[in-house]
Amino acid sequence: MTVEASGTGATLLDISIAHKITHWHECGGHGRCTTCRVRILDGASHLSAPTRRETELAQARGWDPTIRLACQTSASGNISLERIVLSEAAASQLRAETVGREAGTERQLAILFCDMRDFTALADTNSAFDVVHILNRFFEVLGDPILLNGGIISHYVGDQICGLFGLDDDDHARSCSGAMRAALGMAEAIDRLNEELAGSFGVLLKIGIGVHFGNAIVGEVGHPTLRRLTIVGDDVNTASRIEAMTKEMGAKILISRAVADRLAEASLSITATTMARLRGKRHDVELLAIDGFSDPSPFALAQRSIGRLLNDPSVFAEQFYANMFAMRPELEGLFSNGTVSQGAMLSHMLRSVVSGLERRKHVTIGLQTLGRKHVGYGVELDHYDTFRAAMLKTIGDVMGGDMTHEMAESWSNTLDVILGQMKEGAGAEFRRH
Ligand code: HEM
Ligand code: FES
Repeated sequence: MTVEASGTGATLLDISIAHKITHWHECGGHGRCTTCRVRILDGASHLSAPTRRETELAQARGWDPTIRLACQTSASGNISLERIVLSEAAASQLRAETVGREAGTERQLAILFCDMRDFTALADTNSAFDVVHILNRFFEVLGDPILLNGGIISHYVGDQICGLFGLDDDDHARSCSGAMRAALGMAEAIDRLNEELAGSFGVLLKIGIGVHFGNAIVGEVGHPTLRRLTIVGDDVNTASRIEAMTKEMGAKILISRAVADRLAEASLSITATTMARLRGKRHDVELLAIDGFSDPSPFALAQRSIGRLLNDPSVFAEQFYANMFAMRPELEGLFSNGTVSQGAMLSHMLRSVVSGLERRKHVTIGLQTLGRKHVGYGVELDHYDTFRAAMLKTIGDVMGGDMTHEMAESWSNTLDVILGQMKEGAGAEFRRH
């Protein structure tokens, strides 16, 4: 699509927002999250020079010159560009870039391996098309819990998926607890996937998950034209072997003592412990079989329902505005541009914020900025309660009978965080005037 922008000084991100183009901008345009990045296809000479912040980021992350940060760049003539970050998964994976590109760095990480059991049997009894479909669904539903809990998907090996927690975070307890939440989220996700696949394919997928905490060398490895994030090290092998032990021990999730030591023991539901000799190792390690974790993310159920909720963003938005205006008719006057394109922006923002809640650092600044901008739209602090009530009602309307008490609570927590941060930004703006 083509848009025309007049006046000077507006950044490329400002122009997207003004034209209601959904454009990821987790930090609200502060040059921190890099989710607003775009690829310039034509007209680069019309762009402002990179700011210092952008230059630093581009160098550290090894971007080629066609990549620019939309929130740091303005244009003085025609340009053509494309957005790069178009999904939560893409936004989450940006964490991998914080790792030194060429040299590789040593990091302390929680390392998770998950493997599909009896994959060979599945491949033998289904057509190639079906196997590819099943594998793609498998990687999708098992990848989401990794991304939503602060991890990145490091790589796939055949039917195995590897998640890393702590690439951009030195809080080891948080990395281990993210990995635990992801492991339990994956165990649940596989049950739901099995319900979905049972009818059409008659398959029952089983997984084993191993989690270990330790050192890994992380870097980009491969032919210069095709480099992939790769991790190597003794502890990486240990994580993979712990996963292999799940089969022997008949456990779904096995973790090492190194992980358990970084979590509050009372938060773990341990079904068995054992000393085991892992393949290729000289010493026994203590392994714990886990079937629950009493420290679930307060956002987990909200995150899980967001896909269904925003399946048709226009239906959701229409219902939401109808609910809000029924509760407080005078609010309709604030939406001078109507609510149709506004609903698309709201849904987009809601999706990106809810899925980014574990990347809180950037999302917090982004929400405060959004709150500040809302002062300019005429939004008062006491409007927020109406918005919250209308949002909860709409979520209930759309989810219908599937709305459990726990899900309502998770949404309530989620909205408290989002609206709380927006109000903080708005409050600061009101005080400034
Ligand atoms: C979950 C919280 C909210 C989110 C994610 C959100 C999101 C957005 C977004 C993305 C925009 C487009 C412009 C921009 O990016 O700055 C916008 C505009 C707007 N929002 Fe919100 N908003 C939220 C809460 C509220 C609340 C509490 C109100 C109060 C009624 C409100 C009223 C408005 C209005 C009046 C506009 C401008 C509409 C226009 O230009 O016609 N929003 N919002
Ligand atoms: S870096 Fe541009 S929005 Fe965050």
